[in-house]
Amino acid sequence: MSATCVVGLQWGDEAKGKIVDLLSDKADFVVRYNGGANAGHTIVWGDRTFKVSLLPTGILKPHLRSVIGNGLVVYPPRLLEEISQLRQAGIKVGDNLAVSDHAHVIFPYHMEEERAVEQGSGAAIGTTGRGIGPCYQDKVGRTGGIRMGELLYPEHLRERLKALVPRKNRIIAALANGAEMKTFDADRICDEYLGYAEQLRPHITDTTRILQQGLKAGKHIIFEAAQGSLLDIDHGTYPYVTSSNSLPGGIWNGAGIPSRHLDKIIGVVKAYTTRVGRGPFPTELDDGPGGIGERIRKVGREYGTVTGRPRRCGWFDAVAVQYTSALAGVDEITVMLLDVLSGHKQLSICIAYELDGKRIEEFPSDSFLLERCKPIYETMPGWDVDLTKARKKSDLPAQALKYVERISELLGLRVSIASVGPDREQTIHL
Ligand code: GDP
Ligand code: IMO
Ligand code: MG
Repeated sequence: MSATCVVGLQWGDEAKGKIVDLLSDKADFVVRYNGGANAGHTIVWGDRTFKVSLLPTGILKPHLRSVIGNGLVVYPPRLLEEISQLRQAGIKVGDNLAVSDHAHVIFPYHMEEERAVEQGSGAAIGTTGRGIGPCYQDKVGRTGGIRMGELLYPEHLRERLKALVPRKNRIIAALANGAEMKTFDADRICDEYLGYAEQLRPHITDTTRILQQGLKAGKHIIFEAAQGSLLDIDHGTYPYVTSSNSLPGGIWNGAGIPSRHLDKIIGVVKAYTTRVGRGPFPTELDDGPGGIGERIRKVGREYGTVTGRPRRCGWFDAVAVQYTSALAGVDEITVMLLDVLSGHKQLSICIAYELDGKRIEEFPSDSFLLERCKPIYETMPGWDVDLTKARKKSDLPAQALKYVERISELLGLRVSIASVGPDREQTIHL
């Protein structure tokens, strides 16, 4: 009985993919339990770079089974595209991939609905535009959701789409408020999706049962969170969040595995903070061209994997990560992209906020309050050494080690890994 969860403790893109890749050499399953193709994980093996979005990072290792759990929302053409790109790169995708028959299906009208809301409501979240929110809305709304298993029954699927699509057209037109929008035809969508279903049929199955049997047989499972804990629908910076539970709490529902099976939870953080999309970000360095924020973005190549948008960059926020590491029940943390901070005279870590003239040390309960928070920093000396060739603790300059130790101290958690570059080799076990 052994299961590990790898979870991001900030606003996503903490380099969870790299950690899952490092841990999965001996795993039997790698399981995604939330989100969809809004995620983007980059994995680097020497001169080979892989990007996965909907597929679990484990797909790069054909010895293990990769599972798309019931908690996901799946856009079939994107899934097929990813599979075909990996096959072209020589990666086997066959019976090593299982897709839950309970995962919900994203249709083109979900993306159009999202576009109408993001453009027209005056309350844009800055989503990835992948139809994630509208699909989860249809799931919890219960009348409009279609699950992967239903794609395998052509007559049933056609009947459901014939009932749903005209209603969707009316909803989108109303949301668009006069703006030009696409309209959809149920039969055309049905024919298109039946084509996808035929290709995905071998993978669609009851993944919960497979995982339960795996646990009984003593197999090792890695649960790979998508997004970051501050984007969790319940505990994140609502409403600037995604529509699923990225915290490990999502595993019980999103994979059907009771949390008591988890024997390790690894929290992944960047040595600084980034955020894509809108929403409060107290430590953001919005200091213009030539500023520190811009420099971190350039050195860290902080552009979204999914949308290519520049990521907002800022200092490490210990208040936020204290909040998320407690929620996630983290056992240890990994500090990623430490190399990106080389060359600064001085580094700052946010240890408290000032809210309406008062010092607070707890993460505020709402985004409108977080918006008003000003960071209170402590500063530390930086280092001027390139870290990308460091491979062991003694290769790190004293200031870099101190910086990592300070993060560990502030969080009250052991740091197991410091990462100094995208490649799997650029990893220091502490
Ligand atoms: P994820 O969504 O949490 O898996 O993270 P992403 O893959 O979206 O973003 C992390 C980015 O940082 C990727 O481009 C990685 O290749 C890269 N990366 C990972 N670790 C390091 C590191 O230690 N240093 C640097 N410079 N880049 C890293
Ligand atoms: P990974 O797994 C960073 C952000 C979007 C937007 C908000 C809602 O690579 O860490 P959505 O499309 O989910 O409705 O958008 O969440 N977002 C991410 N930011 N990394 C991600 O995934 C993200 N997935 C969603 O930018 O602000
Ligand atoms: Mg990412």
